[in-house]
Amino acid sequence: MSVLDTLAGTATAGTLYGIGVGPGDARYLTLRAAGLVRAVDVLAYFAKAGLPGNARRIVTPLLVEGQAERRFEYPLTDEVPAESAEYQHKIGAFYRATADALATLLRQGRSVGLLAEGDPFFYGSFMHMWRRLASDFPVEVVPGVTGMSGCWTRANLPMTWGNDTLAVLPGTLGEDQLVERLRLADAAVIMKVGRNLAKVRRAVEAAGLLSRAVYVERGTMRDERILPLAECCAPTGAYFAMVLIPGQGRQL
Ligand SMILES: C[S@@+](CC[C@H](N)C(=O)[O-])C[C@H]1O[C@@H](n2cnc3c(N)ncnc32)[C@H](O)[C@@H]1O
Repeated sequence: MSVLDTLAGTATAGTLYGIGVGPGDARYLTLRAAGLVRAVDVLAYFAKAGLPGNARRIVTPLLVEGQAERRFEYPLTDEVPAESAEYQHKIGAFYRATADALATLLRQGRSVGLLAEGDPFFYGSFMHMWRRLASDFPVEVVPGVTGMSGCWTRANLPMTWGNDTLAVLPGTLGEDQLVERLRLADAAVIMKVGRNLAKVRRAVEAAGLLSRAVYVERGTMRDERILPLAECCAPTGAYFAMVLIPGQGRQL
């Protein structure tokens, strides 16, 4: 066994692993995450209908032939607002059914690795499984490099200097709320840009930050795009997109 295998460790029967797979480039997986992807009995992942699943795609170079997989397909994603009754009803039922399916595997004594883009405890669907299963089954969460750290690294943007405060804002907030929060922060990350791109851009401009704002799409992935937000004129961005506004604090 190599030193890397020893460091990565093994998977235990009947345990659920929330595996953070990082922002996109497979080389940014931790040793523990890479080891578990290969060691668990069942590799589980969420995916949007008709797509391979981003977290599953990220770990493709590591997969062991013949490993059991479970794909859980979202009934909807960002087609309807998350506040709507339809979204909450359908996604709530989907998460309950997924947790039941995972519980069945765990009761059978299988080790299950549920993949999570970036870090599992940062706006991750995994959290909805953790909430339902962690009191009944052993769960290990493996932290991952977040999408935002992958993006600011690729955009070459040091984000927080000295006493700078950093606001992490979902682009799904209302425009006024975005402006208000942006005015209070020294540095900001705006997640979930996708269909909210035009609104996010207006809010950043209203907060007087457009000249510093950078749009990063699919950071660290093969088809990554990085450009000033001021040059983004389309009303909609990619689902995997964020806006970064670096701080300007104490630079010695
Ligand atoms: C549901 S959140 C998942 C966040 C993830 N758990 C993390 O640690 O980054 C999805 C949002 O994360 C952001 N995101 C994650 N990875 C990204 C990447 N590689 N490039 C751009 N945006 C990314 C996008 O704003 C996307 O809408």
